[in-house]
Amino acid sequence: MTYRIAVLPGDGIGAEIVPQALRVLEAVGAKYGLSFTFTEGLIGGIAIDETGQPLPQETLELCRNSDAILLGAIGGPKWDNLPTHLRPEVGALLPLRKALGLYANIRPCRTYDALADASTLKKEVLAGTDMVIIRELTGGLYFGSKGRTDVDGVQQAWDTMIYSTPEIERIVRLAFETARHRRKKLCSVDKANVLESSRLWRETVNRLAPEYPDIAVTHMYVDNAAMQLIRNPGQFDVVVTENTFGDILSDQASMLSASLGMLASASLGGRVGLYEPAHGSAPDIAGQKKANPIATILSAAMMLEYSFNRVAEARAIEAAIEAVLAKGFRTGDIMEAGKRLVNTEEMTDRVLEELA
Ligand code: NAD
Ligand code: IPM
Ligand code: MN
Repeated sequence: MTYRIAVLPGDGIGAEIVPQALRVLEAVGAKYGLSFTFTEGLIGGIAIDETGQPLPQETLELCRNSDAILLGAIGGPKWDNLPTHLRPEVGALLPLRKALGLYANIRPCRTYDALADASTLKKEVLAGTDMVIIRELTGGLYFGSKGRTDVDGVQQAWDTMIYSTPEIERIVRLAFETARHRRKKLCSVDKANVLESSRLWRETVNRLAPEYPDIAVTHMYVDNAAMQLIRNPGQFDVVVTENTFGDILSDQASMLSASLGMLASASLGGRVGLYEPAHGSAPDIAGQKKANPIATILSAAMMLEYSFNRVAEARAIEAAIEAVLAKGFRTGDIMEAGKRLVNTEEMTDRVLEELA
């Protein structure tokens, strides 16, 4: 079986970490008899520089004609002052997600035994943490109407948080189904004490809940959820929330696994899945071989599992990473005293050794 992968490294550390995930996919392919074709496309700042467009039509076509997409990261200071619709984030990543119908962003987050001391949080707080954040990805503030006006010489700007019942239903159903295959707990996070869109969100969750009697549902306000995530993260199993809340809470939750460089993600809902680390282009460390490739490698493992149903292969990658961490190899972001500092490529070398 040959899988066609669209490879979009993007900007900053994207160009450093994506090749590492491809090395791992090649190795897994050789071991388990899968083959891949990797076709590179331009996206983000580098695409603006080379074509004038953040998401060239050619890239979109490449994605549509592939079996899955692996993306690094986009954006950076060089492109921050372009008009909003031309910026890498709003001009490329959001339209790509929308065009492919990727409404469900899955961000698994757990504490690795080997990294319990590498986190800024106490080991006792982290013990047993294993959750998945399910973030709605094609609605809410990101896609609602936005604009600026001048009212008597005073500038105003607005962004609209808007959700329809079908948009909420499909993501909430996916969260219920996910909980069914886990510890059967679903926490829906909203701001229903203030926001009308959150009230519709909560009503929808409550209306669907009787269809999933085996799942224990709770609701939590997002401000409390932010606190509970670091007070007692072990209480969460599946968390479902709207786009902006999920963006913020998932970066926060990444510290439960010691670094944003550990947080993988899958964006699903259409025919072609998009796999990317949750982090960005990390301009502060780009070009220095310091980036942690694990989030991207784990995203490739999610691709094997979710797009290709190659579960054993995905588990093998995860096990290899755990073994490497247990042996004390660390990129700078997860470094602790007494451990062995490695660069981006060397970390991948160690993972490949474990896989072999
Ligand atoms: P960021 O995620 O790029 O970096 C935040 C911090 O985490 C930085 O200190 C960075 O060095 C560190 N970090 C992130 N990934 C790491 C890794 N793999 N290994 C080690 N350290 C890592 O967020 P930011 O600095 O707020 O944003 C930088 C740019 O990235 C912006 O243009 C932003 O819009 C963009 N961005 C893109 C994506 C994406 O492509 N999906 C996601 C988030 C941010
Ligand atoms: C992410 C990123 C993006 C988002 C940005 C770059 C548009 O932060 O994937 O989490 O907010 O969705
Ligand atoms: Mn984010």
